[in-house]
Amino acid sequence: CGIVGYIGGRNSQPILLEGLKKLEYRGYDSAGVAVHTLQGLHIRKTKGRIQELESQLEHQPLVGSAGIGHTRWATHGKPSDVNSHPHTDHSMKISVVHNGIIENHMQLREELEQLGCTFLSETDTEVISHLIAHYYEGDLIDAVRRAVSRIKGAYAIAVLSEHEPDKLIAVRWASPLIIGVGEGENFIGSDIPAILEHTRDVYILSDGEMAVLSCDRVELMTLEGNFIAKQLLRIDWDMMRAEKDGYDHYMLKEIAEQPRAYRDTMLGRIDGDSHGIVLPELQLAPEQIRQIQHIHMVACGTAYHAALVGKAVIERLTRIPVEIDVASEYRYRQPIIREHTLVIAVSQSGETADTLAAMREAKLSGAHILAITNVVGSSVAREADDVLFTWAGPEIAVASTKAYTSQLIVIYMLALYLSQCLNTLDAVTRTEMLAMMERLPVQIEEMLEDTRRVQRIAGELAECGNLFFIGRGLDYMVALEASLKLKEISYIHSEAYPAGELKHGSLALIEEGTPVIALATQEALLEKTISNIKEVKARGAYVIGVALEGNMDMAKTADEVIYVPRTHPLLTPAVSVIPLQLLAYYAALARGNDVDKPRNLAKSVTVE
Ligand code: G6P
Repeated sequence: CGIVGYIGGRNSQPILLEGLKKLEYRGYDSAGVAVHTLQGLHIRKTKGRIQELESQLEHQPLVGSAGIGHTRWATHGKPSDVNSHPHTDHSMKISVVHNGIIENHMQLREELEQLGCTFLSETDTEVISHLIAHYYEGDLIDAVRRAVSRIKGAYAIAVLSEHEPDKLIAVRWASPLIIGVGEGENFIGSDIPAILEHTRDVYILSDGEMAVLSCDRVELMTLEGNFIAKQLLRIDWDMMRAEKDGYDHYMLKEIAEQPRAYRDTMLGRIDGDSHGIVLPELQLAPEQIRQIQHIHMVACGTAYHAALVGKAVIERLTRIPVEIDVASEYRYRQPIIREHTLVIAVSQSGETADTLAAMREAKLSGAHILAITNVVGSSVAREADDVLFTWAGPEIAVASTKAYTSQLIVIYMLALYLSQCLNTLDAVTRTEMLAMMERLPVQIEEMLEDTRRVQRIAGELAECGNLFFIGRGLDYMVALEASLKLKEISYIHSEAYPAGELKHGSLALIEEGTPVIALATQEALLEKTISNIKEVKARGAYVIGVALEGNMDMAKTADEVIYVPRTHPLLTPAVSVIPLQLLAYYAALARGNDVDKPRNLAKSVTVE
């Protein structure tokens, strides 16, 4: 969910609406605002996109210089008008927006109902507004503090009350929240884009911190009421980069930005003189690296697919065994963490609850945690012992593209760095790999110049109901990501299989005309993959190959071939995924889907 808040000298409604639009990627099944007007506190909220709230506000505007807003991604209670935020108490004098989950809401609800409260919604959030009302005895800060002391779970909340309309209160526990500081006005946001148009000076709240905002002051304190001094951060993101730059969709813009993202992510990390990787930000000393016995990798979704490539590459270059888990599984399987286990968490947003929980679990067992994330100041970045940032810039489209490939780049650099410390890779291969990495941006720029073939194939595939991706080795890892991308935005059912495994069951699903996308960039495995392609063709499959430029065998075997530039075999995922991102994009477009905001999904999932 997304939260925005404003207090200052201007009318808050347009500021809240603009902020919510910037946060739509966090959830968009309903939206609402509460504004303190001359007639007191008023709420407008509705199921559906922010545009629907906007048209409601056009007919019934709210005028007032303090307000809070919310865009929702449903967790407790289906998307509906009443379940939309802000929520209020029975006196309608307190309004609350919330991101996260209140784990003990059932208990609190029963308790409040016994005290005479009537609940209007099915949400967990509504208990917060009733609790604040219950504790309010003339001091809003005290009432909020007492209310949050009763709730367990994850929350970022913003409160506006008619009792004390000269202030907004924000509290954070395990869900991101920032405070923007302006001149004669202050802001609350669950993420930077919400407020970037108005100010670049922000405080990033930590767990257990509370902010009290008035027009000209921001006071930060702990939940116990102790004032705290915090450094004001200056955000130097270029707002243009966070907007669509003239592309039809954020996703297409972000696909096109990959050459730049590769360059930025490599910048200053490849040392031309020593032909090696330098990672000055890493706390982990070479002596510690030499002691590492095991590596665990945890991540979710697309980041998990980047980590899969990571496992293969790190093992190949360092010979350190790497285990990998989907983060939501890791913490519950009692992973074996010994001394000298390094845990690598990969997360674009740095706020994914499952990944954070897995990281915390590993930290409790004493592991050294290295995070790979795209968001400075995110929870994952702050809680890890070490962070390597991907410099992909803000990623807005729900379907991740440039963040995934930037994660690959960081993983390659990390694997090479580890191999340097361990002396497990000869200098010639390393120099060769580095040179090929540095060529990737230009190769991708060239590949992106003409995407007509991919567009045509995507148009053909848009009609099908079911398809398969196959590949061996790293091609299989990319197949998994390509299949996820297609499912996320086109809603076409697809599955990815190791090419050799299809015959052990799923081959039964191949019929006349079933599309099979066969990745064959691993030349050492090419013959085997070609045999597998022949197996599916013999059952009637329509095969689209993905192969390295100049590969004639594929041209003879497949019905269509998408060519990608040649690079080092370990680096092929960084090129081969790109036409497959485009394939998903154009297939979704042909089906008339909302590419940037696929149904049922959210960019950043801050609940378990
Ligand atoms: C959500 C998004 C996915 C993303 C995953 C992990 O489910 O819809 O696109 O891959 O979270 O996100 P993270 O920010 O941790 O990389």
